[in-house]
Amino acid sequence: MSDKATLEYNGQKYEFPIIKGSEDELAVNIKTLRGVSGGLITIDPGYKNTGSCESAITFLDGEKGVLRYRGYSIEELAEKADFLEVAYLLIFGELPNKEQLEAFHVDIKNESHVDEEMKKILDAFPKSAHPMGVLSSLTSALIAFNPVSVNVTSNAEMYGAIVRILAKFPVLVAWTLRKKKGFPLDYGDDSLGYVENIHKMMFKKPSQEYKKNKQVIDALDQLLILHADHEQNCSTSTVRIVGSSHAGLFASLSAGISALWGPLHGGANQAVIEMLEAIEADGGDTKKYMAKAKDKNDPFRLMGFGHRVYKNFDPRAKIIKKAADKVLEDLGIDDPILEIAKGLEKEALEDQYFVDRKLYPNVDFYSGIIYRALGIPTEMFTVMFALGRLPGWIAQWREMRLNNEPIGRPRQIYTGANQRPFVNLDKR
Ligand code: CMC
Repeated sequence: MSDKATLEYNGQKYEFPIIKGSEDELAVNIKTLRGVSGGLITIDPGYKNTGSCESAITFLDGEKGVLRYRGYSIEELAEKADFLEVAYLLIFGELPNKEQLEAFHVDIKNESHVDEEMKKILDAFPKSAHPMGVLSSLTSALIAFNPVSVNVTSNAEMYGAIVRILAKFPVLVAWTLRKKKGFPLDYGDDSLGYVENIHKMMFKKPSQEYKKNKQVIDALDQLLILHADHEQNCSTSTVRIVGSSHAGLFASLSAGISALWGPLHGGANQAVIEMLEAIEADGGDTKKYMAKAKDKNDPFRLMGFGHRVYKNFDPRAKIIKKAADKVLEDLGIDDPILEIAKGLEKEALEDQYFVDRKLYPNVDFYSGIIYRALGIPTEMFTVMFALGRLPGWIAQWREMRLNNEPIGRPRQIYTGANQRPFVNLDKR
């Protein structure tokens, strides 16, 4: 196999090296293209064919439906690891041993206080505010209370920043939910596990003791693991590109949260449930909505279907579908929306339009059904996605800075007006 690619243009030949990844993925390295060719650039809207970096964190093969964090399969991690172990693995590259995991958890617990003044910022939001907007703002506001910039080459300083955000972010997540529900703010309990504590901070009623429910905690833990990283998706690329200007970790994360919010990305989990509820309210006619999804004059898309990279199946969706069945059974919930979801999935998988375009259920198709069963309001679903994605964003930000990546600054092909003389206001 050739280790070079040749580009021929205007009678000139230019050679570019081929880069090979550890799973044999290939890329043409066009770093020198513009310089050697006298100004040629490539254009690739949506970066469908463009690799933005080399990364050793997550591998996914969209054709085969493979997802691995640091070499470990998502199936094995979802079954055998807990979320904190997975966070450690993603960020530091190896699974922690018992002592490392324990120390990591203790360090996180020691940083879990959020400045009381932050409550004033939360108070200023109307109750109707979307929790993703609130979360992004609060994450950004954390900078004001932790203003010291971190030297990324100092392991101790980086570790401190990582532990701080892993400790405080769940508090902010819990506060956004409690504000929505009209509950007084709650604090963590250091005697609880990481995910258990998050659950307690979100749901503990002021008049009741917190009661642990193992099935609920296990389901939540698994959902967080499944969302923990997904290589260079929209929000992760945002975190990396914002960080590439040497903006701080918290500022980059806040931008990532905004990117995740959109319905084509993390916001799809909210959109799926709203879609299923609308179908139910409309009499449950899935065929009508299938037709709408295929109609090119109708902007409606089947939310929770399709993926930029997965063209066979989304391995996370397989795990989540099973988990949704289990959670509903464990909690004794009969949700008619699950039946509509299953019906839609069956129809879509047999439909030529979806088959031709390789559109399969993605991670968001069934996750909302579990969140609903756990009593999480629909508007909070994408916040739960952000909570899970946090370790991935941190790992990717850290890798980008340690690799000393240059500032992200794409070029463009200008298609606007050519130079023209200014026309004074009275002449227009
Ligand atoms: N329903 C109906 N048609 C669709 C859908 C859908 N959900 N997704 C893609 N298509 C069609 C699209 O109209 C196009 O058709 P044609 O070739 O005739 O023009 C073709 O399939 C290719 O679509 P695309 O928009 O060019 O593909 P993309 O890679 O740019 O978009 C996507 C990927 C996920 C944004 C898209 O599939 C979509 O909008 N899905 C619904 C939203 C969703 O579920 N998002 C969550 C993604 S997974 C969680 C995450 O990682 O964020």
